[in-house]
Order: sequence, then C-alpha cells, then structure tokens
Amino acid sequence: MKIISAPGRPLSGSVSLPGDKSISHRAALFAALAEGESRIENLLVAGVTEAMLKALADLGVRWELDGNRLIVQGRGFNSWVQPPEPFFLDCGNSGTTMRLLAGALAALGLPAVLDGSPGLRRRPMKRIVAPLRAMGAPIQASPDTTAPLRVEARSQDRILDALDYTLPVASAQVKSCLLVAALAADGPSVLREPGPSRDHSERMLRSMGVSVTSTSERSNLIPNTYYVTRLDPPRPLRLSPLNVAIPGDISSAAFFIVAAAITPGSRVTLKDVGLNPTRTGLLDALRSMGSEIQVIQHAERSGEPVGDIQVSYVPLQGTHISGSLVVRMIDEFPVFAIAASCAQGQTRISQAEELRHKESDRISALCAELRKLGINSIETPDGFIINGGYMNQGGIVEAHGDHRLAMALSVAGLVSQSPVIVDGAQVVTESFPEFSTKLKDLGADIRVEI
Ligand code: S3P
Repeated sequence: MKIISAPGRPLSGSVSLPGDKSISHRAALFAALAEGESRIENLLVAGVTEAMLKALADLGVRWELDGNRLIVQGRGFNSWVQPPEPFFLDCGNSGTTMRLLAGALAALGLPAVLDGSPGLRRRPMKRIVAPLRAMGAPIQASPDTTAPLRVEARSQDRILDALDYTLPVASAQVKSCLLVAALAADGPSVLREPGPSRDHSERMLRSMGVSVTSTSERSNLIPNTYYVTRLDPPRPLRLSPLNVAIPGDISSAAFFIVAAAITPGSRVTLKDVGLNPTRTGLLDALRSMGSEIQVIQHAERSGEPVGDIQVSYVPLQGTHISGSLVVRMIDEFPVFAIAASCAQGQTRISQAEELRHKESDRISALCAELRKLGINSIETPDGFIINGGYMNQGGIVEAHGDHRLAMALSVAGLVSQSPVIVDGAQVVTESFPEFSTKLKDLGADIRVEI
C-alpha cells in the first residue's frame, strides 16, 4: 500500500483521535490480572493492540471487544494458563506487548516463548532480561539480547526477589515490565531512571489499589536527576478491576499538530487528547520554534489529564532538543523532523541515541528518507541535524516497516513541491488505521493506493 500526499488547501476543523496506544496496552493487560469485570472505553483497536489481545486469549483470559469498548473478565493472578503447545505467543510488531507480557509471565511463573516480526526481533531485550533474571525469573533471550524470549516455568512456592535497580536508559516499557513482575515479589521494589519516561502504569496500578510512589532524586552524576518509582506488592496479591475511558493518543495527534503547524493558513483542534506531562514534549518543542499552540485542559479522566489542543500556522525557527525533553517526545521525532525541515535555520537533536532502537533505526532511516525529498538532514551518533526553511521537492520514500515514519513522511507531502509517495504504508494500521481519512477530513490532499 502507498500513501500519496500533495500540497493543497490550509487544514481546518477538529478531529478526535483513537485511544492512546500505551494506555490501551496497560488497560488490557492489567485488567487481565485483576479480579472482576473491567470495562475499557475507547481502546485503540489496531495491529499492536490486536497482538496483545490475541496473546491474552492464548493465556486463557476472557475478553470481548465491541467496537472500541473492551470488557475483560479478570480472574486474578492464578487464572492464566500456559499458551497452547509449543507455548508460543506472537507479539507481532509490538515491543510493548512483548516487554509487558514478559513481566507478567515472570510474575506468574508460566512458561512461554515470546516472538514476533523480524522488526521486533531486532529490538533490544537484554534491558528486560537482565533485571528479570536478577529477580530470579527464569527468562532467556536469544542469542541473549533479542527475541525470541523464552520464559521457563517457575514453581509456585518460589517467589520473585524484590528489585533495587537503575535503568541504563529511561524506558517506560522496561519500567512497566519490571513493575508488573514486582507485583509478585517478596518485598518493595525500587526503580531509578535517568529521564521522565511515561507513567501510565503507575497511575493505573494506583487506581487498582497498588501502592506505587514516584519521586525524584538529585545526584552528582550526569544526568543529575533520577526518577524513582517504588512499588509495594499488594498483600493479598489482588488488583481491583478497571472502569476507564482511554484518552486520545497524543502520539497520533502529533501528525495533525505538525501538519497544521507547517501548512500556511491552517487552524486545527485536536479533541480529548491525553495531556500526561510525560508525553507532551512535542508541544514544548514546537513552542520553542515559535509555534502557536493553545491547550484547553479538562478535568482528569480515569487518572490521566485530558484536553483539547488548538494549533495555528505561523512560520517556525530552528531549535535544539536534548535531555529530558527527548524522553517526553520519544515517539514524535519522525514528524518533528518534518516541522524542523520547514523551520528557518538549524534544528539539532542530541542525546537521542534511543531512537535507533524503535520500530526502525529512526536516526538513520529518517535522515535517509528526508534526503530523498531534498531535505538537508545530517545523521549524528545520538541524533540528527536539519538545516531547514526550504520546501521539500517531493518524491518516493520508504516506510522501513515503521508506522510513525510512514505517517511523518506523508505529512511532508502537504508542504512539498510535488507529491510525496510513501511505499510500505500499510504499516500505519499498526497504530492508526484511520490516519489518512482523518487527515483528509481536515482538508489535506491525501489518498491511499493499494
Ligand atoms: C511505550 C514506551 C516508549 C515508546 C513506545 C511505547 C510504552 O518506549 O517509544 O512506543 O507504551 O511504554 P520506551 O519506553 O522503551 O522508550
């Protein structure tokens, strides 16, 4: 499938987004561990969450999906069964599914082999395997650093050891994997991170009756702030069921935010978007370029801040992004690069080496595709530099099996001299199946060719 986008009218109107991907994963998994019926509204129904739901069904969890309402019949930690022989769970392209499920299987002591697409097999897994092993969980990666992951059965009387651990990189997937495992440990676990990764697991577990605290700690090292999460395992081991409405995904909204920010004459409102401060880095980054963004915050919903975001076009200037802002906009760099290519002057991204470990190597793949559009982009070991301010020339680009790269490159077509054709764009269905339709509804010249 190809997405073809071209310059056209200014964008206008309002749009609502599918449910947040990270929160959807957590809601499905935690509900499956809870005792009682959980009701989850506005679940993201897309490739990545289908992988999670299918794996939960293979583990004996009963759920029903009606549109985007998910009802899960949780029966507690002891109700999961081992997947059918040969104990294989297919996590598709979803890193969150693999890492969070590994934590749950470690907690439960159930045997399984977690595997997925070739793209998922290249992503680093040692970051969860090493600390899970330190807790006493019998888990192995192959050939020690990547999927497939093999979790061995653990006898019911062998409880996991509590963990006191500093994550080498800020990662909510690693933190959440370890928090789920820590639920079944023999005492409180403490995790330290060098950056403020998203805290959806902590918020949701608290709402389910678990004591989870988040603080920060000064240190003489660089970075000099550590983000500390402490979880006390509930005794008895029981989670209350969920009754939640998932906010719109700010990482999906990001494509429309940038599209409006760079298309002259545009004014767009994104409705009911999650505004968790660990996720709103893109808004701060665009504001530092001069962008006009208004946020109208509503009351918190299901423990998460939610609101509307209004974006109007103004000319942008280059900026520098590093440090904790990188963590707070970790998924937004592909589309942020398109904003940078439209901004006058230089934009520099540093301390973002983690981008190499996403659905693609988002430093090298992104820079290579931008260059095909005539955008002056320079790869650096831990980020990239874009010398912007010129209209891109259009052309044929490749998604590299990365949903966010496909959508970002489609946005570049809205401000190009000739159309941008994104090959391999079917991968968009992994996180945002309605992307093209919703962008078209705002007035964009965009179409899909099978
Ligand atoms: C996610 C966390 C992020 C993000 C991913 C989803 C999550 O990964 O890139 O798309 O749901 O926890 P890291 O936390 O590993 O950076």
